Amino acid sequence: MKDIMTAPFVEEMKKTAANMYRLGWDERNGGNISYMLDENEVAQYLDTSRVLRTIPTGFDASALTGRIFIVTGTGKYFKNVKDDPETNLGIIRIAKDGTTAELLWGYKDGGKFTSELPAHLMSHIARLKADPLNRVVMHSHPTNTLAMNYVVELDEKKFTHALWEMCTECIVVFPDGVGVLPWMLCGTNEIGEATAEKMLQYRLVIWALHGIYGAGRTMDEAFGLIETVEKAAQIYMLTAHLPRLNTIKDEDMKTLAEAFGVEYRKDFLDL
Ligand code: 13P
Ligand code: ZN
Repeated sequence: MKDIMTAPFVEEMKKTAANMYRLGWDERNGGNISYMLDENEVAQYLDTSRVLRTIPTGFDASALTGRIFIVTGTGKYFKNVKDDPETNLGIIRIAKDGTTAELLWGYKDGGKFTSELPAHLMSHIARLKADPLNRVVMHSHPTNTLAMNYVVELDEKKFTHALWEMCTECIVVFPDGVGVLPWMLCGTNEIGEATAEKMLQYRLVIWALHGIYGAGRTMDEAFGLIETVEKAAQIYMLTAHLPRLNTIKDEDMKTLAEAFGVEYRKDFLDL
């Protein structure tokens, strides 16, 4: 059996959490990550028949029965993940009943998975319908994205368009746009269900006045989506109070999307 501390998926979680913290996206225990793992890969590091304890999920995740995830712990600080992954992360498998998580590794201090597990697992279910290769769901509180929530109407077309206008490559990176949910109570099945519904068509979902969700096939894809939104939001916030002399026009965005061959939300442009 190989040492789990050397597993590439643990390494990826450590690096990603450290980066998110470094960028100021995840203060205190803000943010959470879930990463669906390959059972055969996990079996190289863990005896997958050995369940340390079971933890109720509080919702039906039977669509994911048997699937294994590495997930950040609730109340845990992203800044601490790299020094103590076994306390701050856990590896869970969704049991046959769909409402129990079997802990295979981690949450060493008796902790449990993020309070946002409903939004994560329901988003995984939705994204796997849209893209069977999706593996990662990530939630974060990036500063400028959050600031933009206070000054741009919380409307999917308006919010996406405002972001697309801020960097030439935005429409290429997230041609599917950004879904927007109104303010809702976090950590509930209700916000999980609403997020998952958006995730059927978007890889990015804003939780109004709270943060953002990103999903992707890899850690890089999910991270890169949020990173690109945050960069655009930063430019928006740096210029919001200044007279706008120049802008990327809707015709330019159409030209870009066509040149890069991406399927984009044509209804989010005014042409
Ligand atoms: P957790 O500490 O439970 O992961 O919650 C952090 C968070 O960002 C809630 O939305
Ligand atoms: Zn949050």
